[in-house]
Amino acid sequence: MRLAPRASPSSSAALVLFGAVLAQQQQQQSGEQKVLSPSVGDGAGSPFDADFGVFTEEVLHSWHVPGVAVAVVDGESTWAEGYGIANFPSSPVTPSTLFYTGSTTKAFTAAVTSLLIASGNFSSSQDSSPLGWQTPISHLIRDDFVLREGYEWAAAHLTLEDALSHRAGFARHDKALAKRSGPDGGRRSTVRDVARSLRHLPMALEPRVRWRYCNLMFMVVSHAIQTLTGRWLGTTMRELLWAPLGMNGTFLSVEEALGTPGVEVARGYYWDYLGVSGEGEEEGEGGAREKGGFVEVPFSSLEVASGAGGIVSNVLDYSRWIRCLMHEDECTVLPKEAHRELKAARIMLSPESRKGYDAPLAYALGWQLGTYKGHRVFTHGGGMEAHGAKVYFFPDLKYGVVTLANTAVTSNIAGMEVAWKLINDRLGVSEEERFDWGGSSKKTLDEMLKLADTAVEKLYPDRADPPLPRALPLQDYVGTYFHPAYRTVTIELAEGGDSSSSSGIEKKKKGELKAVRDNMEWEMTFEFQHVSGESWAVIIDFLNTPNMLNGQLARAEFVVGVKGTVDKLRMEFLEDGNEGIIVFDRM
Ligand SMILES: *[C@@H]1O[C@H](CO)[C@@H](O)[C@H](O)[C@H]1NC(C)=O
Ligand SMILES: *[C@@H]1O[C@H](CO)[C@@H](O)[C@H](O)[C@H]1NC(C)=O
Repeated sequence: MRLAPRASPSSSAALVLFGAVLAQQQQQQSGEQKVLSPSVGDGAGSPFDADFGVFTEEVLHSWHVPGVAVAVVDGESTWAEGYGIANFPSSPVTPSTLFYTGSTTKAFTAAVTSLLIASGNFSSSQDSSPLGWQTPISHLIRDDFVLREGYEWAAAHLTLEDALSHRAGFARHDKALAKRSGPDGGRRSTVRDVARSLRHLPMALEPRVRWRYCNLMFMVVSHAIQTLTGRWLGTTMRELLWAPLGMNGTFLSVEEALGTPGVEVARGYYWDYLGVSGEGEEEGEGGAREKGGFVEVPFSSLEVASGAGGIVSNVLDYSRWIRCLMHEDECTVLPKEAHRELKAARIMLSPESRKGYDAPLAYALGWQLGTYKGHRVFTHGGGMEAHGAKVYFFPDLKYGVVTLANTAVTSNIAGMEVAWKLINDRLGVSEEERFDWGGSSKKTLDEMLKLADTAVEKLYPDRADPPLPRALPLQDYVGTYFHPAYRTVTIELAEGGDSSSSSGIEKKKKGELKAVRDNMEWEMTFEFQHVSGESWAVIIDFLNTPNMLNGQLARAEFVVGVKGTVDKLRMEFLEDGNEGIIVFDRM
C-alpha cells in the first residue's frame, strides 16, 4: 500500500515526566530488590524544547522516517517525547508507543545470562562445574552445538562469553535463516534449528581473534538459556529483568505485544526511494515511476530473532533499563558482579569504528563501548526490516539517550542525529567539534541506492574484457539448488514469461536470472547478472522493503559438470566482508 507523504506532525504527542510514573510503581513493588527512586521533576529543564522539536521534525523529513520516540535520562530525571507518525494516517508516536528494538535485545540476553550465572542454580552438563561466562556452549547443548569437520576445537571450546561478544569466528549468515524446519518444512523454525544449522556453515575466522558480528550465536545462546531453564526466553527475561525493573511494555513476541490491551505498536514503513511499489500507479514520463511515499511493511514474527533481536518495547521502558545500568549501586536487579562483567570490554572492533569517537570501540556483552570527549560511553543499535533503535549511555555522567523509530536503515541515521545533538548540547560541544553523522550516513545511503548498477565493478574489478560467454543456454541454469543451512535457491528466468511476479520490481533490474526466497525469515530476492564465463554478480534485496537500503551483494559461480549440466552453485555472501563459500547442490 502506498501512503501519502508524512502527515503533519502531531502536537498532541505528550511530554512525559517519567519520574512520577516510576515512583508510583515503585510503591507497589515488594521484596528486597532495590530498583531506583528518581525524584519527581516539575517539567523544568526538559531537553525537548521547541527548537529541538523543529530539529527533530527536519531530521525525520530528510531521512524519510515516519516517527521517532526519544527518551533522555539525566541524573534522576527522565524525559520522553514522541514525534511524527506511528501508524498512518494519523496515529502519533507517543513515549509509550512500542517499536521493534532489534539488536538492542542482545544486552538483555547477556544480562539474563548474568543472572542465571549469579543464581548458582545451573551447571555444565559435562563436568558439573557451575555455570559461568567461560562455560563452553557444548556443555549446555551438546548435541545441538556441533560444528563442521575441522572445527572440533571451536565446538568444544567456544564459550557463552565468546558468543555474546561476537568473537566466535562465524560471519553473519543471516541469509541462512529458514522460516520452516523439520521434515518437509512441517513447522516454524526455532532457535534450536538455528543452532543445529551451524554444522553446515564455514567459519570466517579462527575463534577469538577478531570481532565479527553474528546474530546466529545469540540465537545459540537463546537456545542454551531455554534448555537450562526449561522455558521460553521471554518468560525468563520478564521474570528476572523486566518485572523487577518495571518494564511492563516490553515483549519478546510481537504477537504478544499486539494482543495486549492499550498497547500500540508502531507499524514499520519503507520509503520508496526506487519507485518500485508502483501499486495502481501510472508510469510517469520516460517510463519512470513516481518515487517516494511510505509503504507499509507487515509485522515480522520474532520467534527466531529471539535473544538476538526479538524485543518490542518503548522508550519509557528502555530508560528504566539504562538507568539501572548507570546507577550500579542503586540498581540491585543486577548484582555488582553482573554490572561489572556486562560492561567489561572483550574484544576491539575495527579501527574504522573510531568514526565520531575518541578511539576505536570495543565490544562488551551486548554493548559497544568507547569514549567520547573523554567520557565513557556504551552504545548499541538495533534494526529490523522496518524499525531502528539507538541506545547510548554515559555511566560516569549518569546520562543516556534512547531513540526508537519506524523505518528501515534511516531510522538509525535519524536516531544518531537526534541522539548526538542531545549529547553534544549536554556536553557543551561546539558546532565545529561535532561529528557530521548525517553527512557520513548520506554517502553510504547514496551508495546503497546505486548498488545494483555498481555491483559488477565492485564484485569483479578484474574481470575478463570482453567477457567470456557462459557455457550453456540460460534455460539450463534454471532449477532448484540446495544447501542444508541456506536451504533452497530456486532460479528462474528473470524476464519473459513470468511478468506477473512481484509488483514491478523487475522493471528496475537487469539480471538474467533471479531467485525469490520467500521461504526465508528475511524474505529476499537474488538477482543474477552475468559477468564472464560461469561467474555472476548477485544483487540481494529484501521483499518486504525493496528499496535497496538493506541491499547486499554476493558472488556466484555455476559449476558445469563433466556431463555438461549445471551441477552446483557456489556462492560467496559478503555482508560485513566475506562470509565463506556456500555450495548449493542442484536438486
Ligand atoms: C534458583 O533456585 C531458587 C531455589 O529453587 C529459586 O528460588 C530461584 O528463583 C532460582 N533462580 C533462578 C534465576 O533460576
Ligand atoms: C504499564 O504501567 C503503566 C503504569 O502503571 C500503565 O500506565 C501502562 O498502561 C502499563 N502498560 C502496559 C503495557 O501494561
